[in-house]
Amino acid sequence: MTEVTADPHMTEARVQALREAINRHNYLYYVLDRPEIQDFEYDRLYRELVELEREHPELITPDSPTQRVGEQPVKEFPQVHHPIPLFSLDNAFNEEELLAWEKRALRILAQEGIENPALEYFAEIKIDGLAVSLVYEKGLFKHGATRGNGVVGEDISQNLKTIRGIPLRIPVNGGPSPDYDVEIRGEVIMTRESFLRLNEEQHLKGKSEFANPRNAAAGAIRQLDSRITASRNLDALFYGATIITEDARRRPADDLQAGLHPTSQQESFNYLERMGFKTNPARKHCWNLSEVMDFIHHWDEARLALPFATDGVVIKIDQLHYQTLLGYTAKSPRWAVAFKYTPEVCETRVLDIEFSVGRTGVITPVAIMEPVLISGSTVQRATLHNFEELAKKDVRPGDAVRVQKAAEVIPEVIEVVLAKRPESANLPVQPPTYCPVCNAPAVKLEGEVALRCPNHSGCPAQVLRRLEHWVSKGAMDIDGVGPALLEQLINRGLVESPTDLYRLTVEDFLTLERMAQKSAENAYASIQKSKEQPLWRLVNALGIRHVGQETAVLLAEHFGSLNRIAEASLEELTTLEGIGGKVAESIVVFFAEPGSQQLMVDLQTLGLRIEDSTVNKPAAGAQIFQGKTFVLTGTLPTLGRQEVTELIRAYGGKVSGSVSKKTDFVLAGEDPGSKYVKAEKLGVTILHEQDLLSMVREAES
Ligand code: IVH
Repeated sequence: MTEVTADPHMTEARVQALREAINRHNYLYYVLDRPEIQDFEYDRLYRELVELEREHPELITPDSPTQRVGEQPVKEFPQVHHPIPLFSLDNAFNEEELLAWEKRALRILAQEGIENPALEYFAEIKIDGLAVSLVYEKGLFKHGATRGNGVVGEDISQNLKTIRGIPLRIPVNGGPSPDYDVEIRGEVIMTRESFLRLNEEQHLKGKSEFANPRNAAAGAIRQLDSRITASRNLDALFYGATIITEDARRRPADDLQAGLHPTSQQESFNYLERMGFKTNPARKHCWNLSEVMDFIHHWDEARLALPFATDGVVIKIDQLHYQTLLGYTAKSPRWAVAFKYTPEVCETRVLDIEFSVGRTGVITPVAIMEPVLISGSTVQRATLHNFEELAKKDVRPGDAVRVQKAAEVIPEVIEVVLAKRPESANLPVQPPTYCPVCNAPAVKLEGEVALRCPNHSGCPAQVLRRLEHWVSKGAMDIDGVGPALLEQLINRGLVESPTDLYRLTVEDFLTLERMAQKSAENAYASIQKSKEQPLWRLVNALGIRHVGQETAVLLAEHFGSLNRIAEASLEELTTLEGIGGKVAESIVVFFAEPGSQQLMVDLQTLGLRIEDSTVNKPAAGAQIFQGKTFVLTGTLPTLGRQEVTELIRAYGGKVSGSVSKKTDFVLAGEDPGSKYVKAEKLGVTILHEQDLLSMVREAES
């Protein structure tokens, strides 16, 4: 510990020197991965600074390295308006699609009067993390935010500061002129190594494991207590920097002239590095698409050795002035495209084949495997879909299998590696004769491949799955009543059908294991509250075969009451657009089943909302577009014209066909037409789909 000097200037100078030293060592360690001192030496410097700041709190500055972890959890994350919207990227899945992207760029540039431009490219690995945007005001870290809806994100500054590689101040000589504010873009990631370590810890603590590094990073960055975030070992890699000028996409002329501002994506990386940011390491300038393809092929293999997960390559036109000319569609830049890799394949071993019983009694073979990390997540179960498929693939316990998983898609066994089948291998797996859960004789319905347990109301597995579906997010969305709780309720004989849930009392919950008064009351309350859910949720919750969320909305909207849906004939149902013969039949069959009449009576007596004419209409009072006239132009890729029109109407607005002085807003999509030009001329406010959505969201919150 240093002697505390009496001279305040000396103290201040020492504090300053310590900060500089700590920042430098942070940079060497976290950004360059090239530490120059031992951990204990670093700790000594850090402790000295903490001590001095404790004695002289007036010397604490927001960019001091001691300010990285907040001492108090926050209540919520405030919203931030992004200075420049965060767009998404169009995908290309093969070389032809990449060529088509280039062709479009050339066509647009030709329209701008640029014939045969010498396009250069910049290829970067696509980082599979969470997009973040950091804003530095005159060099000082101001805030950092999640992508959110692209226009408005959540302010997660305190959590981002815990990532030591993120500078709290940009050095004056490295970045933009000191008067400028700059926005930095990148991805927050968790390395595979940190992910595996975290999951091991979670497992030891009996907590649930994360499916993949991306989810783990998302969980960590959205913690209200930054001390937890700090313990999760997050990292961040950056790929973009833009000076915030009034017209967000214009580059500052003076900095450009002074050679301070990059003119290409390649230079942007040097710029970022001069400012002290850790950058995407897998990147290359390419003179043509053939070099780009080489890069893509190289990293398809090599990416597996990268410390973080990737799902493709982002290809950008390198020259920033061409980027500016190419501009954006409503949702993505025309100057960039994401090449997506085909899913990763891994080999593992089958430990067992389990028969799982679903909500409708279908028995499905599932391969239980030695855990492997594929496409960023740990996989140990893969459905084999049905017994025909199982016979075809002939997967047996003990077999080596090749497994694949596309990002966000269910893992799948591709094939058995026969050469590796152990000599002692079991015989082919036979379909079960009895339900593995309730022992009822399994049946096969005519014309179906599926094997079923016919014990609809008595099989505990079916009952559980139906209840799980009932409480799920897309159905009645009953918070705090999860699978474990449902299982207990079933085992105690308290619940057999969804309607039983509504008959439970607080005392019933108190009889369960580890259930305190407060949680019992909460579970009871959220079940009761779900009675108010809109009709479409109830229709979806019923679990009618082939009726998902979309059809449920359609039915609720058209009929407005459960009884009317139940009475609808096959003909009437098929007249609805979006409902085919198979779906209609399944609806009719469902309501003709003997138990259905009783169910309808029960739902009504229990007070669930079986009539509802307000589907998708906002609560009265949210008429934010009252008296406003909108004109739509171009393709609206997210919602489509129909939905946008309905949305505007639902909130009190009008949609008209042509632009005039009376038009309040023009909603512009991709390739907008002459209405766009006219709107600009008349000074009518131009919105994009995302703006509309965030206005609506704001009004609703
Ligand atoms: S450039 C205007 N480069 O992918 C959008 N994005 O699917 C330009 N991403 O929102 C984005 N790695 O969060 C770019 N090397 C990279 C990237 C990358 C990951 C993310 C980014 C973007 C999303 C689009």
